[in-house]
This record gives sequence, structure tokens and C-alpha cells, in this order.
Amino acid sequence: MTNQSGDDISSFGELRTRVKAEVSKVVIGQDHVIDAVLAAMCVGGHVLLEGPPGTAKTLLAATLSKSLGTSFKRIQFTPDMLPSDVTGTMTLRGGELVYRPGPVFANIVLADEINRTPPKTQASLLEAMQEAQVTIDGEPRALPSPFTVIATENPIEYEGTYPLPEAQLDRFLLKVQVLYPSALEELEVLKQGRLGLNPLAFDNVSTVAGINEIGQAKREVELVHSNEEIMRYVVNIVQATRNLPSISLGASTRAAVHLYMVAKAFASMSGRNYVTPDDVYSIAPSVLCHRLVMTPEAELDRFGPEDAIAAVLNSVPIPR
Ligand SMILES: Nc1ncnc2c1ncn2[C@@H]1O[C@H](COP(=O)(O)OP(=O)(O)OP(=O)(O)O)[C@@H](O)[C@H]1O
Ligand SMILES: [Mg+2]
Repeated sequence: MTNQSGDDISSFGELRTRVKAEVSKVVIGQDHVIDAVLAAMCVGGHVLLEGPPGTAKTLLAATLSKSLGTSFKRIQFTPDMLPSDVTGTMTLRGGELVYRPGPVFANIVLADEINRTPPKTQASLLEAMQEAQVTIDGEPRALPSPFTVIATENPIEYEGTYPLPEAQLDRFLLKVQVLYPSALEELEVLKQGRLGLNPLAFDNVSTVAGINEIGQAKREVELVHSNEEIMRYVVNIVQATRNLPSISLGASTRAAVHLYMVAKAFASMSGRNYVTPDDVYSIAPSVLCHRLVMTPEAELDRFGPEDAIAAVLNSVPIPR
């Protein structure tokens, strides 16, 4: 990392490079997804992924976790799942009630198709995300640290789904789109000759980091400098979303806090210990779009959250 005088004081940026080099042995492209997850881990947040099937969402989460040396669990959400399938249960063993932890106890939890399970089960995961603990039989149990949920969502209009309510969506730090790779990248996938079809087979990936380093990166993010001008810029963007006629629910104060923190994380990951307006500008769509509710008129006009954020970013003066 460099400070404003250009002196080298690196580590989060270096961690990112190292981890990316390792993950790219298996996953071709999708760099922005890796960045989003690393940023989320280092501010204690969670990520929502949206994308078509078969675009390495599972492969990426598992590979990233292995390269980081973190524990990893995957939860496939289904309509018949109960909260205890997420958080764990008390079971009888040798005449004694013992707690059997659920799959939520891992550093990285891949919550696949979170909108296929009813609200009560969704809520059990969302509570864990919010509080970094689960309560079983009245007793709180702390989740490991770091704790980051990567949730994948089906398209909202899909039949038999339970779309996450706005208040729940607001809890996700970032939402990133996982896109199809380019033709060149797809060719690369085939050339790479991965053995078999199992996304969880990646023996050639090594652990190149550890939980301590994530903790170090976290402290670095906290030390990133900012100033009142940057804060005002964040506030102006968030306020503008509340005044746009096409938006019926704008960004919350929580969204402002998230935008500010993510900008700091991206500054640190890019090797700087100060935030620039460009950090805020470039990450604002991923932080804000999923939280907005458009008016029915805007929806009819196919004017979506991405268009609204673009309009907001165009209208709010960038500090210089
Ligand atoms: N970018 C990529 N790099 C390398 N392999 C890829 C990539 N995208 C897809 N694949 C291949 O596709 C397979 C499926 O990936 P994976 O199961 O991770 O997709 P997914 O996005 O989780 O799908 P689903 O939404 O159905 O769960 C992988 O095992 C891998 O062979
Ligand atoms: Mg998958």
C-alpha cells in the first residue's frame, strides 16, 4: 500500500494479488467477484451474487476459501428447509443433550439459492449475518471470525421463490453480477483441462494466506484515511437516491455506511491508505442498486436501479 507521498507500506494489495494468482489456476476471470468477497471479509460484510447457472459461483467460493485458508460450507436452500438446518440442533447423545452445529459455522458460507427457502429459514441466516452469532435453546453461540456469507439468488420472477424483503437486502454489503466469460476466457476454461465435472475438485490450489492476514487487512482498512469531502460525497449520493422520482425506496443510512466502508476497503486493496472520490464512484452501483425499489412507472419504462444510480452519479458533483 502507498501513502499520499507514494511510500510503499503494502499488505492488503499484496494479499489480493497472491490470492488471485492462486484462484486463477482454477477459475478463469471473475476477478470482480474475488474483489467483492475480499472487501466484504475485511469489513465483516456479506455478498449477494446474481448470475446464470454454471458460471463458477460455487467453484469460485470454494477455491477462494481454500487459498485463504478459511473454513468453507455450502448450504443449498430448498423449500422444505428449517432454521435448524442452518443453525444446528440439540441432539441426544449417550443420554445427554449436545449441540450439533449447523453449516453456518464456517468462515465462508455459500448460501445457494437463498430465495428458494421460506422467510423463516432465510431469517435464521440473516440473523446470523447481522449478529455474528446464533441462539440455540436461548443460548448464544458465536460464529467464527471472519464470517462472510456469499448468497446466490435466482431471478425474482422465478416460480415458487421467496424474494428477500428490502430490509434483508439492505444487510448485504454488495451485490455483484456474475457474467458469462468472454469467448477467449471460455476457451481458456476448456484448455485448462480440469479433471472431472465436480466444482469442489481443485487439488492444485494451495493455501497462500491465513486468518491472521485477513485480520491484518481488516486493520489496514480501518486505518485508511478519508476526509469530510469524501463523507459529504457519500451522503450526497445516498440523499440523491431518495429524491429521484423514479425511485420509491432510496438508499438507507446503513447503505451510506456500507458505501463508505467498501470504498475504504477498495482503496486499501488497490494499495492506498486514502480514499479517492473515484473509489466511491466506481463501487456505488454494486453497493446501492440492490437496495432500491423503483416506482411501477419506472419499471414499466424499464428504467432499472442501474439506470437510476447512473443518473444519480451523473448529477452529484464529484469533489476534486
Ligand atoms: N470462469 C470459469 N473458470 C473455470 N471453470 C468454469 C468457469 N465457469 C464455469 N466453469 C466450469 O463450470 C463448472 C460449473 O461451475 P459451478 O458449479 O461453480 O457453477 P455455479 O455458478 O455454481 O452453477 P449453479 O448456479 O448451477 O450452482 C465448473 O466445475 C467448471 O468446470
Ligand atoms: Mg453452484
